[in-house]
Amino acid sequence: MLDPFEGLHTRLIIEGGRRLEGVLDAPGAKNAALPIMAASVLAEGEVVLHHVPRITDVDVMAAILESLGARVREQPGGTLVIDTSSVNSHAAPYALVSRLNASFDITGALLARFGRAEVPQPGGCILGPRTVDLHLKGFEALGAAINLEHGSIVAVAEQLSGANIALAKSSVGATKNIMLAASKARGTTTIENAAQEPEVVDLADFLNLMGARVRGQGTSTIQVEGVRRLHGAEHTVIPDRIVAGTYLMAGAITGGDVTVRGIDPVMLAGLTDKLEATGCRITPEGVSVRVQGQPKWAPVDVMTAPYPGFPTDLQAPFVAYLSLAVGTSLVEETIFDARFVYVSELARMGADIKVSGRSAVVRGVDKLKDAVVEAPDIRAGGALALAALAAEGTSEIGGLEFIDRGYEFFEERLASLGASAARRSGVAPIMPKADITITEKLPRVVTPFRARS
Ligand code: EPZ
Repeated sequence: MLDPFEGLHTRLIIEGGRRLEGVLDAPGAKNAALPIMAASVLAEGEVVLHHVPRITDVDVMAAILESLGARVREQPGGTLVIDTSSVNSHAAPYALVSRLNASFDITGALLARFGRAEVPQPGGCILGPRTVDLHLKGFEALGAAINLEHGSIVAVAEQLSGANIALAKSSVGATKNIMLAASKARGTTTIENAAQEPEVVDLADFLNLMGARVRGQGTSTIQVEGVRRLHGAEHTVIPDRIVAGTYLMAGAITGGDVTVRGIDPVMLAGLTDKLEATGCRITPEGVSVRVQGQPKWAPVDVMTAPYPGFPTDLQAPFVAYLSLAVGTSLVEETIFDARFVYVSELARMGADIKVSGRSAVVRGVDKLKDAVVEAPDIRAGGALALAALAAEGTSEIGGLEFIDRGYEFFEERLASLGASAARRSGVAPIMPKADITITEKLPRVVTPFRARS
């Protein structure tokens, strides 16, 4: 069974210096699957989701649904069957919600279904302040009263009504949550400055399969015409562009040749344009992308941006790649305030990176060296693994509980490309000693509904 705490006592051991080569299929997108699972709360009927990634975030979201009264079953091959007809609670438990940021998507769905939602402020990766003020302003515009009670956000509305909502930032989470809440509101909601990420489009497409009337997804103006009822639906989750991008960079950083199948190259253009600028050969072909790396590559300046720009979620892996470029690159992070926390770990492998606020100057070095490092968040885990693949010697990466939140069967996938990558259990966790007595029985933290194959 997947163990969400595995990273506390297990490390990823990577022996660097191997050229990665081969073909991989892109798994389903975490950031599409999670809100779609939340949306299943709205269905009067069964929801069947295919191409759901085997990651612990999905397990936790399934556990949140179960804690509300839903039944979640897994079928072989990444299919989830979700029956929310028995959902009888509008209060999501802190022990689960605090584990991932996307858990807050449940708020819009519960509000639309029950006219009331009680959801603690979400957790997830620490990338800087991750407020939900835009979500809440959106709910208020739809007619909900918002209060903070006992650490939970309580949203209440007798009847949600459509409204014009202009988002101050094109927030992915706020766009999704407002779409969910508006799906059963009276009248039409217009979201201006809406996020245009493919995962937002996938949620909108799924809502429409359930009978919702969402238009404009993929543009900056989304319109949601409320309907009275939403029914069950069957849907295949879109591919994960961030995971796909990480594997393409694994090819690039090892001077290798990696193809990721099952993903529209357009979804990866923000990354592949930059890889090409460093000298990689990029071959988009139908629904696959091939990256052929070079023994040496050029630096390039990068600024993260909302889709279709360079994704913030690939910033850390790309910095790992640039740390071996011949020359200096400037990397600017425009989405999150604190997304360079991993840099100190890369520096321990020999990278030369100076961070100032939201910018980093990356001076390429000749080589990276092995180290014992700790991943501070999901994508930083990807970055450290890339660095280890290219480094001399054998590196140990801790923080696997982060990697497992976003990358399914990570070391198996890397090994299938020729990497020497394996999980080693039994390494004692480096934790302060404390006398901790658990006095309260918490809800089951994770639903182990799938076996690791
Ligand atoms: C989503 O986070 C993704 N997570 C993130 O991926 C991704 O990095 C991010 O979008 C940007 O693409 C999920 O989809 C689960 P935002 P989200 O709302 O929704 C500020 C990963 O590793 N903001 O677009 O939290 C916020 O602080 C994760 O898979 C407000 O000020 O991103 C941030 O600076 C990490 N008020 C910016 O907007 C709000 O109410 C963008 O946040 C909401 C957001």
